[in-house]
Amino acid sequence: MDYDNIYIEEEGNIATITIDRPKKLNALNKATIEELHQAFKELDEDGEIKVIIITGSGEKAFVAGADISEFAHFNVAQGGHLAAKGQELLFDFVQDLATPVIAAVNGFALGGGLELAMACHFRVASANAKMGLPEVSLGVIPGYGGTQRLPQLVGKGIAMEMIMTAGMMDAPRALHYGLVNYVVPQEELLALCRKLAQKITNNSAVAIAQAIKAVNAGYKPKEDGYAVEINAFGHCFGTGDFKEGTTAFLEKRKADFPGN
Ligand code: COA
Repeated sequence: MDYDNIYIEEEGNIATITIDRPKKLNALNKATIEELHQAFKELDEDGEIKVIIITGSGEKAFVAGADISEFAHFNVAQGGHLAAKGQELLFDFVQDLATPVIAAVNGFALGGGLELAMACHFRVASANAKMGLPEVSLGVIPGYGGTQRLPQLVGKGIAMEMIMTAGMMDAPRALHYGLVNYVVPQEELLALCRKLAQKITNNSAVAIAQAIKAVNAGYKPKEDGYAVEINAFGHCFGTGDFKEGTTAFLEKRKADFPGN
């Protein structure tokens, strides 16, 4: 499929999605959200792709937020719909994707941009990255999961401070609070993400999908994470990957997972 606001590069089992609206600091308009949904869906269904990296084009921004020009005139119903649709199409969709997703935060990740990075399975930042949820400065609150995922990652107090002050957190501080896993010079960002992705591809994609499901279940109030883990654990015993992984270990060789 052809995309206008994003592009995809594939290298072996790793796909990189780049949000490509640099003049608007990669702000997420409706079309971009729809294209991202489609791209994540296609790549998840592509048996060859084992890890997806998402980043922003240019050196300045990952994503500077939802596109303010698109919702400035919205009423109550439209506002609610905007959040619900966005969460369904992109933010929850990415969080629950069976394929691991790494956010390469290459600059500003604000509002919907930080919410997108937080929906990914983990984050790596460049040294110039700045992260924040500035929505209350616009008279609104984070609507793409930010009020939930930020406290999960950094703790309630820091999340409250970030949301209330609408301030930006620099990369070292984000690393300190666990919002990102690594901070590297910008020119090394994608290389590190690819190195981590490569490590992931050595493991069983079938098992990783079950692990994502179990970890996420613990953050969903209606699910019992421990029960989901037990089911997912049991499920693995019926897979060819489990047979191959355990057999390879006992035979002292590298596993060649049939599910990969
Ligand atoms: N929505 C729509 N357009 C946006 C945008 C957003 N979230 N963020 C940046 N842009 C646009 C600007 O309007 C500007 O467009 P223009 O050149 O047509 O005027 C362009 O991107 C460049 O941004 P600019 O503000 O000129 O860059 P800067 O370096 O001075 O400031 C930021 C960078 C990130 C601090 C500033 O753009 C900003 O505060 N953006 C909004 C962040 C925000 O509140 N996000 C949450 C939205 S819910």
